[in-house]
Amino acid sequence: MKIVCVNGSPRKNSNSAGIAQHFCETAQKKGAELKTYFINKLDYKGCQGCNACKEKSEKCVLQDGLTEVLEEIRSCDLLLMASPVYYGDVSSQMKAFIDRNYSFVDKDFTPRLASGKKTLFVLSQANPDEKAFADIYSRYSSFYKMMGFTDCGVIRACGVRGPGEVADREDIMKLAEEKVLQILA
Ligand SMILES: Cc1cc2nc3c(=O)[nH]c(=O)nc-3n(C[C@H](O)[C@H](O)[C@H](O)COP(=O)(O)O)c2cc1C
Repeated sequence: MKIVCVNGSPRKNSNSAGIAQHFCETAQKKGAELKTYFINKLDYKGCQGCNACKEKSEKCVLQDGLTEVLEEIRSCDLLLMASPVYYGDVSSQMKAFIDRNYSFVDKDFTPRLASGKKTLFVLSQANPDEKAFADIYSRYSSFYKMMGFTDCGVIRACGVRGPGEVADREDIMKLAEEKVLQILA
């Protein structure tokens, strides 16, 4: 299994990236191949709405830091997207990445990528209430289903604020390990 892990937090020792890393390292021990990106370090733009990917190309025509990431997703089995919750949504870095996935569908919104790809989301938020911001995952996972991905769910860390706080949350790290077993089964 090839995993492409896209981290949308801009900060060091990020909670969402920490969970993603634990998932990925556990999966690697079981033989998974891994490509990890910290997109805040990349130079890229959001979707320009140019529709070139609908009218003249199967791929996004922008050539920037996301070009390689989008290419790697074409050959992956699992796309892991990890983001902090910012103002009730994913980070702006992650949102711009998601918009750039627009070339993954045809102009009639049928999927262009090979079937069988999966998505997993990781979201961390300061608010301890699991009902708060539960809509983020359902909203984005529905778009990835439209793009032809099979949804493998979400790992949410609620009640983590400071960098690295999630490292003490054994319950969440265990959830990440269980997800590996579920997805690699
Ligand atoms: C700009 C900004 C907006 C935030 N908005 C929210 C929010 O709407 N709800 C929430 O629970 N936490 C919010 N937080 C807190 C982060 O979601 C929290 O610290 C999270 O654990 C950060 O994840 P990371 O370490 O992966 O970056 C916000 C933090 C920042 C910097």
